[in-house]
Amino acid sequence: MNSPLADLGVRTPVLAAPMAGGPGTPALVVAAAQADSLGFLAAGYKDVATLTEQIAEVRDNGVPFGVNLFVPSPQPIDPAAFQDYARAIAPEAHAHGVDVRTIGIVEDDDRWHEKIELLLSQPVPAVSFTFALPDAAVIRSLRAAGTLVIQTVTSPAEAAQAAEAGVDMLIVQASAAGGHSGTFTPQHTPASVPLPQLLAAVRHTVSLPLIGAGGLATPDQVAGALRAGAGAAMVGTALLRADEAGTSLPHRTALTAPTDRGTTVTRAFTGRPARALRNHFTERYSDLAPGGYPAVHHLTSPMRRAATAAQDPERINLWAGTGYRQTRAESTARILQGLTTTL
Ligand SMILES: Cc1cc2nc3c(=O)[nH]c(=O)nc-3n(C[C@H](O)[C@H](O)[C@H](O)COP(=O)(O)O)c2cc1C
Repeated sequence: MNSPLADLGVRTPVLAAPMAGGPGTPALVVAAAQADSLGFLAAGYKDVATLTEQIAEVRDNGVPFGVNLFVPSPQPIDPAAFQDYARAIAPEAHAHGVDVRTIGIVEDDDRWHEKIELLLSQPVPAVSFTFALPDAAVIRSLRAAGTLVIQTVTSPAEAAQAAEAGVDMLIVQASAAGGHSGTFTPQHTPASVPLPQLLAAVRHTVSLPLIGAGGLATPDQVAGALRAGAGAAMVGTALLRADEAGTSLPHRTALTAPTDRGTTVTRAFTGRPARALRNHFTERYSDLAPGGYPAVHHLTSPMRRAATAAQDPERINLWAGTGYRQTRAESTARILQGLTTTL
């Protein structure tokens, strides 16, 4: 592999995606690195103390790793739309003893400045960004601290902006990806362009090294992404049932349930487009949900937490990419290596 990743010691060109909300763990990141791949700690939703501890835990193993941040990209919610949506979903939350009418509008920045300060004072090998492009000054400071800076993009236009801002590498994320889309324009549902086609279009636009992500579930699909211009692939969903993943039991179970749920891109849980397994909540509320991250995330979060504790898969955000039927319950190392067999 001839890229900045090789300089970090990466030899297995299938990387472990950051997975906020539980599935991503320090153990998964360490296991990926020990398999000559690279994993990313998810800083999203975490407080700085927890992130600091998790970085220390991975660092103690003496392996390369990355940290992924949600870049503030506030899509302020219309208060009337927020109230209407809270009223609509109230019975679902009530089923788990949660009263959403007591939840106000929260428009926070996920502790952006504190997290950047941490990553500048204790630099890590790689940082990746999603949801928006940080200021060029932040990118410059991280690079000056010796950190490889990687930006998630979902279109050639976003790739051009990221290149202009001075990042080192791009993650090109297709809409088949599980979890949130990294789109810079969350008010639009990302176009469903197959990953090889998206990679070719981005390759045509910028000369930065590319990592392809979204829907990669088989060795042939990984090989296809590399042929289309990516220097490496990145998988999230393929690792959701890994031994080292922190995926909840109802989420793991839903991935392999005999009735094939299929996936859908929905704003129902967070106000930002994300791909999830279809369930009662996506079917009933996707058309009603207003755009508005992070307010909708904070509105539904207590219900999702209670539903997870109660093992109720119908009211949880079961993030999953289109390749979810191929997931396997085995070690992170075996899953990553298994995806490279045709290379
Ligand atoms: C459960 C889950 C959580 C995710 N959390 C993050 C995250 O915190 N940051 C991020 O940049 N991407 C996140 N993603 C998206 C991944 O980075 C990646 O783009 C995606 O998993 C690739 O598609 P695949 O799931 O089909 O492999 C998440 C994906 C999943 C499935």
